Formats: sequence, structure tokens, C-alpha cells
Amino acid sequence: MEKDTIIIGNWKMYKTNKEVKEYLHSFTKNLSDTNVQVGFAVPFTAISLSAKELQDQGIWIGAQNMNSADEGAFTGEIAGKMLKDAGADFVILGHSERRTLFHETNEMIASKVKKALEEELKVVLCIGESLEQRENGYEEHLEEQISSALKDVDKSKTKNIIVAYEPIWAIGTGKSAGPKDVEKTHLFIKKILQKIFGKTVKIPIIYGGSVKKENIVSYMEKKSISGALVGGASLKAKDFSEIVQLSES
Ligand code: PGA
Repeated sequence: MEKDTIIIGNWKMYKTNKEVKEYLHSFTKNLSDTNVQVGFAVPFTAISLSAKELQDQGIWIGAQNMNSADEGAFTGEIAGKMLKDAGADFVILGHSERRTLFHETNEMIASKVKKALEEELKVVLCIGESLEQRENGYEEHLEEQISSALKDVDKSKTKNIIVAYEPIWAIGTGKSAGPKDVEKTHLFIKKILQKIFGKTVKIPIIYGGSVKKENIVSYMEKKSISGALVGGASLKAKDFSEIVQLSES
């Protein structure tokens, strides 16, 4: 990854293509030269439009899920190579909404990660604990999520991986995890990544969960936090532009 800070908007199941066009016009109008790597995880239907609108601006476009198969009779699914073909640079995998609402297991996520990397998509691997897990040794749970997803990944592919730490209880709830707590967890995650890939591994770890313009600076001040995955507060171009500006170093 070339830039130090990564700020990704996760639009979830929001925005028609008309809304996407308006948003991107307004976002890019206010965007000056920035040392922040910006990305948007858009609905599948908006990938090619967004890629076209943002051509040559250095902004990443991504999807929020994919299937681990190359192709096949899987009604309603989408393959990594289709995302790539539509213009995606990255894919979010293992988001807690996919794990809880759509029953994705660590094994499923591991095979998606493998396939996405084969297709040369960057992977934003989401991990995080529920409130209950937090109270009962959540570090073990995070370690399991990370090692199961990355155990078959070759070190040469790690340049295309970003880990997003998103405590489930902080997503969309307005309750963010405090920067100090997040920092501690990020250092723990870093240790696990080093255990898997060796001391020299450089995988950015970003935070997600109720990030907004009012709290972004407190996270960016922490050295172990390389950026943010922003849901609700990325839906309005003006708010998201402010978050990006406030993240500049
Ligand atoms: P939130 O969502 O910022 O609305 O909490 C973050 C995410 O789900 O990636």
C-alpha cells in the first residue's frame, strides 16, 4: 500500500446509480490532493459506474462480498473475476453483517479471501467480537477469525490485505470503541499477523464502528490505527469529505 492512511466508505445496501453519480460529483469536487487513500465499497450495481466516474483519481472502488467459486450454477452470487471485470480494486470480506445475518463461517471467508487474492483484488478482511465475546476472552475469538482466514495465504500476497477491526457492538450503534482500547486490540492483531507471516509483515489495520467526523481524529492520532472503515457517516459526501480531510497527516 502506498499511502499511510486508508479511509474506506462502506455504503452497504444504499444508493441507486443516480444517487451514486450525484455523490461522486460532489465528493470529487471538494477533494484536493490528499495523502489519504480513499475507497468506496459500493453496491454491486454501482461498481462499473463508480469506476468510470473515478477513473484516474486514485480512489479505490470495491464490493462488499463475493463468492469463492470461479463461476457456476450459484443463483444470485457473484464471482471475484466479475468484480474485477466491472472495475473493482478491492472486496470487503467477513463483515459482521455477512457473518451474522447471512451465516458466513470462518471457512467460507477463508476460501473467499483465497479466491479474491488470486483475482488480484485487495481484501479488506473484517474481524470483530460481539459484546458477549468481549466479556469472555475476545482475543481468542479474534485470533481464530484471523488465522482461519489467512492461514493459507502466501506472504507475497499480504501487500493486498487490509484488516478491519470492527467490534460488532460498535457498528451502526453510535457506540464507538475508545481509541485507547482500539489501539490495544490493534497491537494484539499485529502480533497475530506477525505470528502468521513473520515479523516483517506490513498489513494495515483499520478501525470500524460508528466512526464519524467528531471522533475520527482521536483514532488517527494512534499510531497503530492505519485508517477507518466508515458506514453510516460515509453516506453523505460532505460528511465523508470532512472525515477524509481530518485524517490527513
Ligand atoms: P458504521 O458501520 O460506521 O455505521 O458503524 C461500519 C461498518 O459496518 O463497516
